[in-house]
Amino acid sequence: MDSAVNASPSPAQYSVTVALEAEHQHLLEALDEVRRLLREGEGDAAQLRFLSFGDRLLRHMGAEERVLFPIFEQVTGIPDGPTKALRCAHCAFRKVVRVLKRSLVVDPAESSDAMLAYLKDAFVKHDEYEQQWLYRICNEVVCDDVVRDAILGRLDAWRTSEDESVLEGVPHQCADRAETDATAAGREAP
Ligand SMILES: [Fe+2]
Ligand SMILES: [Fe+2]
Repeated sequence: MDSAVNASPSPAQYSVTVALEAEHQHLLEALDEVRRLLREGEGDAAQLRFLSFGDRLLRHMGAEERVLFPIFEQVTGIPDGPTKALRCAHCAFRKVVRVLKRSLVVDPAESSDAMLAYLKDAFVKHDEYEQQWLYRICNEVVCDDVVRDAILGRLDAWRTSEDESVLEGVPHQCADRAETDATAAGREAP
């Protein structure tokens, strides 16, 4: 009997979240770069970098909401648990991105830097939470190459879609507190 054929695959073999985890890191680095450009007085370059960051973040969140959240909710039978908190955090991030797009034009120095620092802090906590709950559970339930490839294909399709609806969140109910949070740098992340 061929032991290689019968060996249990490691979870890493079936990971559906490798690209998303790498994207978390890329997005954090992009935020650092925007802040660096601002410090160096490169306001126009900072605006452009932030636009690119925002587009990638919105696509990342759109793909998570459309592909991974339903998997998690179906597997766990919990529609109002971790995914509800994550949807609300996404809602807050979308609003912070909108505020920052404006503020980088009219006030590219101090308030923008405070909001960028707030966004990074909130995003770090969000990433940890996703990787601990959402990504881990999704990876644990995928134990087949065909299923994994189908999920990866759907994630990639949403992340690179020409359809601008991916930039919008899946409609849901959450407390609307992002505008306040966006201007309150240093407070607890959503
Ligand atoms: Fe997310
Ligand atoms: Fe994420």
